[in-house]
Amino acid sequence: MANYTLKVRRFQPESGEGPYWEEFKVDLEPSLAVLDGILQAKDRDDGSLSVRCSCRAAICGSCGMKINGQSGLGCKTQIGEAQELADKQASATGASGEGNSIVIEPMGNMPVIKDLITDMESTHWTKIRRVTPWLLPHGEPPEREYVVDPESMIDITQSMACIQCGACVSSCLSMEADPGFIGPAALAKAYRFVGDPRDAETHERLHDLAEDPHGIYDCTHCFSCIDACPKGVAPMDQIMRLRRKAGEEGIEDPNSGHDHEIAFVKIIEKKGTLDESLLLQESFAPGVKGKLKPSKRAIREMLGSIPTAIRGIKTGKMRSLHKLIPGVHPKLPDQDDVKAIYAHAEEHNEEFNLYIKGEEGELAEENVEKGIERSTDPETAQEVKNG
Ligand code: SF4
Ligand code: SF4
Ligand code: FES
Repeated sequence: MANYTLKVRRFQPESGEGPYWEEFKVDLEPSLAVLDGILQAKDRDDGSLSVRCSCRAAICGSCGMKINGQSGLGCKTQIGEAQELADKQASATGASGEGNSIVIEPMGNMPVIKDLITDMESTHWTKIRRVTPWLLPHGEPPEREYVVDPESMIDITQSMACIQCGACVSSCLSMEADPGFIGPAALAKAYRFVGDPRDAETHERLHDLAEDPHGIYDCTHCFSCIDACPKGVAPMDQIMRLRRKAGEEGIEDPNSGHDHEIAFVKIIEKKGTLDESLLLQESFAPGVKGKLKPSKRAIREMLGSIPTAIRGIKTGKMRSLHKLIPGVHPKLPDQDDVKAIYAHAEEHNEEFNLYIKGEEGELAEENVEKGIERSTDPETAQEVKNG
């Protein structure tokens, strides 16, 4: 048994007061969960301390919260580990390294109803409904069940693992800047149907998500949702899959996100380093041999980027004016390693589905040959070819 201090951000709307912090002392085994500590405090000290929970086994998705600033599940985070992180964070700021308070807050990007209980309806569930979270097959339904090739479902198993806890939404940096962003959970759910072979509206779904200014191109690849997700859904990866599929369908996104990605790849391949001014040109008006392809849209976008370029100069991101001229930025001297990386990526045109944990037959043998071992941890990733 060990002692811990929980520093909880509280909000009791009926009091008419704003949020405040309160500390609770709890004692429990380090292997028990932060949620157990909160329930102990509620039981022993203050019955009005409010938290939403049900299964206490990382299944129902009810107990999303922020622990030491990180979004996750209260029932899946061991209190001993939370203490270690609290101490590490404190020592990084020069404070004492032991016995620091474990900071517990309600999830972010959602209104707080009371203490640790947030309003999931106004953000999370509204956005989930936004992506039409059900199958849209065409034609008469079969007499019995749909029969699909098991292999064709591998691609969506990762997104199917979502328990709708909202931890990814809580951690999403794009949502902080743009509350209208459809968000990681809803977009992961969208991929669950886009990738389903039974769904007949793939193209329409992709069009819808690409054309929405708060859609798939609003994600900034910050990885926060991947870190926060307790079920390995990796929402950002699902968003990247949506983008890739939209590109394959020839869908032009309104903010040039797909062209931007291609421009990155092309410039790094050519120069081994990022030529920011060329990036601007290639993203908005991909030209032939470095020549700007004139179009009304390209000119409009380039002109619209001038304030960003000026900010880049002011903040020192672009250190000299001449680097604003496309193509002037020098190449790195040795391109062999860069070329090798591109060749490897080309040759191994495969994606890793980090959720799938088991594989059979040829794939298992292939992995044994490659020296890839089967994980014994049910939550741990297993590499699977996911063409
Ligand atoms: S990777 Fe994208 S969706 Fe995920 S948290 Fe960051 S901005 Fe949000
Ligand atoms: S994707 Fe992960 S973090 Fe987001 S709601 Fe689903 S289970 Fe929770
Ligand atoms: S209580 Fe069900 S996921 Fe935590």
